[in-house]
Amino acid sequence: MNIDLPLTLLGGLSPATFMKRHWQKKPLVIRQAIPGFSAPLERAELFDLAAQDDVQSRLVIQTPELAAKPWRLKHGPFARKALPALKKPGWTLLVQSVDLYDARVRALRDQFRFVPDARLDDVMVSYATDGGGVGPHFDSYDVFLLQAHGQRRWRIGRQKQLDLQPGMPLKILSNFEPEQEFVLDAGDMLYLPPRCAHDGVALGECMTYSIGFRAPAAGELAQEVLQRLAEQARDEVGDTLYRDPGQGAQSHAARIPAELAEFAQTALEKALHDPLATQRALGEYLSEPKAQVWFQGLETGIDADRGVRLDRRSNMLYDDSHIFINGESFLASGRDAALMRSLADTHVLIASDLHKLSPGARGLLTDWVEAGWVCLQD
Ligand code: SIN
Ligand code: CO
Repeated sequence: MNIDLPLTLLGGLSPATFMKRHWQKKPLVIRQAIPGFSAPLERAELFDLAAQDDVQSRLVIQTPELAAKPWRLKHGPFARKALPALKKPGWTLLVQSVDLYDARVRALRDQFRFVPDARLDDVMVSYATDGGGVGPHFDSYDVFLLQAHGQRRWRIGRQKQLDLQPGMPLKILSNFEPEQEFVLDAGDMLYLPPRCAHDGVALGECMTYSIGFRAPAAGELAQEVLQRLAEQARDEVGDTLYRDPGQGAQSHAARIPAELAEFAQTALEKALHDPLATQRALGEYLSEPKAQVWFQGLETGIDADRGVRLDRRSNMLYDDSHIFINGESFLASGRDAALMRSLADTHVLIASDLHKLSPGARGLLTDWVEAGWVCLQD
């Protein structure tokens, strides 16, 4: 992607300018980000997804008549008849990770690849009847809210005070102070940085696509990386036993010897010493597929006359030394690395590129086709 070319999707800004001016900083309303946009997924198709048990979905029902319980939240799966009637106002169905299940939604998500893949979370699709919404709240995500069908009125504010109403089944701000209001039509889009207060209310039946980018927490990354490093620590650090020929007689037997603490500290430093091991653990974590993803493999490996493409549920990333796919890591260099990086960036490798791979890399690709991570091009 040429990051300096103006994009209609970003209201005429280039990805470079958008990232500089708005990303993580300030909201942007983009009229006709996708001109003439018509929702790729029909309402009935969304309801079918919400009925599947491997798909995460939620139903939010507004019950203002019940002062003590103005919001109700239910978790899917939802049989069609478990959803409220279409003519009943004030309810919303939210379906997560629709990009995993639908190629058209995945293609839409791919228009946002000016943001690193490692930041992308999913595309959530919501369907609401008139007046439906999830209430005034904030997210920890950067999100592009693309109006896919009908109209939604958004109110947003930059308030610092983000206390939530206690005892609610969903995050509802105690004091929402809207500063701006927009009505979005199909094809319009609103970008919101994390912690920007917002409230979207359906004006008639509406569908909204949230292209969400999650920011990992420092503690979460430390835990995930350390967990992976811990699994290899025994092999890396070795089984050298602690020796204490100089240990004197102890009058306070319960005290841990300082030398033993030092021995443990040195072992830990050794386990963390290899920067490649840390990078490898990070890439493995970031490329883990979502929990509900399973792959259907093929009996045959790669075909000399056909290129390959990445399955849409696969996560493929790379760093200076490794290629990562679906939680696994491979050291790569030279031409193999260049071609594998190209597969990660463009999601395809043409047949003539496959011939340029080393036998080892072709073997890996064969394994990935057999695992269903990579598919043969039609
Ligand atoms: C929605 O689509 O109804 C909710 C999206 C959001 O406010 O984050
Ligand atoms: Co939100």
